[in-house]
Amino acid sequence: MRLSLSLAILGGLSLIPTACSSPLLLQTPETTSSYTKKRASNDYGFDSVALALNTDFPDPAFVQHTNGSWYAFGTNGNGERIQVAYSADFKSWSLLSGVEALPTLSGWETEVDHWAPDVFRRNDGKYVMYYSAIAQENTNRHCIGVAIADGDSPAGPYIPTSDSPLACPLDQGGAIDASNFQDEDGTRYVLYKVDGNSVGHGGDCNNSQEPLVPTPIMIQQVKEDGLTPVGDAIQILDRDESDGPLVEAPSLVRSDDGMYLLFYSTHCFTDVKYDVRYATASTVTGPYTKKGNSLLASNDALYGPGGATVHGSGNILFHGWCNDNSVRCMYAAHVDIDGGAVTVE
Ligand SMILES: *[C@@H]1O[C@H](CO)[C@@H](O)[C@H](O)[C@H]1NC(C)=O
Ligand SMILES: *[C@@H]1O[C@H](CO)[C@@H](O)[C@H](O)[C@H]1NC(C)=O
Repeated sequence: MRLSLSLAILGGLSLIPTACSSPLLLQTPETTSSYTKKRASNDYGFDSVALALNTDFPDPAFVQHTNGSWYAFGTNGNGERIQVAYSADFKSWSLLSGVEALPTLSGWETEVDHWAPDVFRRNDGKYVMYYSAIAQENTNRHCIGVAIADGDSPAGPYIPTSDSPLACPLDQGGAIDASNFQDEDGTRYVLYKVDGNSVGHGGDCNNSQEPLVPTPIMIQQVKEDGLTPVGDAIQILDRDESDGPLVEAPSLVRSDDGMYLLFYSTHCFTDVKYDVRYATASTVTGPYTKKGNSLLASNDALYGPGGATVHGSGNILFHGWCNDNSVRCMYAAHVDIDGGAVTVE
């Protein structure tokens, strides 16, 4: 669930883990403060992690325009189904207020919950967007849709390509958090989360009461068009006890030396333990090995960082609670990817 919570709900949470937390789930002090100890700025001009948009802009993803500028896309907010922001340098961002990236709905979806968009530029120059929305067939489930920009601006408008969703495993809880990946040989994939906690049995994000429901991360090969599936989706990750109720928000990059790094979030998005972690593999379909520690976790300056998108360049956008924990703002940073090791610069 990604609806904004009121201050009243979040106000009761604190950075100090509560007594009911399992010790297994706690971040070590070293993990939570690791990036704040790193050097104050880097070649990209960041002071470590920078607040990039001081407004409601959850689950950010981004694409680079051919002229070098950057466009970010966020979950519904500020009056838009899909929000867009612009940056000339990836560091200084502005919300494109009044720009609706998805003015038209497809036949399968409802008006509710346009979450976690992702955009990429296809080989033919077209910009393609993945997003999730509530399905008409079951208004308790989300599915993944795809839309193509009408024209050559990354800001859209994006027009749905089909009356059917790209992925929609309703019986397993639906699907959210789609992201694209293009391998070195040009093969395209879409990753997403099977939203198992939406059919959970209650508790933390609806999935802390037995029996716990899987929330697998899937990878689906697609044709060069980005929307025609090739073969079946393959499961590459799932939650375990250390992840709390779920894993979600997959973002895949390949390092220069051929390692695949799968970034993801764990725990409930409202929880102080929501974070960004990563797993590595030597082939795109895995097996992926979880690194255990958080890359980004709550600390003095961040609350519940997650929903990250990482590109091979090391640029990363993610959200964290802000403005008295009333909304999730967008943060920007740069990570150093060295083989299977990632650090926030
Ligand atoms: C890139 O192109 C977009 C769309 O035409 C334009 O709005 C933007 O100002 C350009 N940015 C740069 C850095 O040239
Ligand atoms: C929790 O799961 C049940 C199905 O087991 C579903 O009916 C309910 O809507 C879910 N609640 C939330 C908040 O997702």
